[in-house]
Amino acid sequence: MPKVSFKSPLDDVSVDVAPGTSLLEAAEKCGAHVGHSCGGVCACSTCHLWVKRGLDSLSEQEDAEMDRIDQAFDVRAFSRLGCQARVDAEDVDVEITEESLSAYLDENPALRHGLEAEGKWPLKKAR
Ligand code: FES
Repeated sequence: MPKVSFKSPLDDVSVDVAPGTSLLEAAEKCGAHVGHSCGGVCACSTCHLWVKRGLDSLSEQEDAEMDRIDQAFDVRAFSRLGCQARVDAEDVDVEITEESLSAYLDENPALRHGLEAEGKWPLKKAR
């Protein structure tokens, strides 16, 4: 089974999943902090991820995803929407964008308040 690894400034987690699993489903399975304001129906772009390894092994990008990801922040050549990209047989390494992490914390205010109290959120920008 392919392994999907998620990296963010808050934590790194990974999970083995069956081929055909979306990156968002993998994130939910291992507790990765990937936002999903629309519930995974390609209507928001808060699940925007940067795929650092295994990009070519993911499912093809459909027109709807391309249109939606244009509305995301800091889109790169290796950007995908977590709810639309499905893994195949290869391992995938993903970086959670700050946009997605912020959306996740909006959806989980108790976690956000805890991180704020610990001084871990908002993220400190490198100078
Ligand atoms: S969760 Fe909204 S576009 Fe993926």
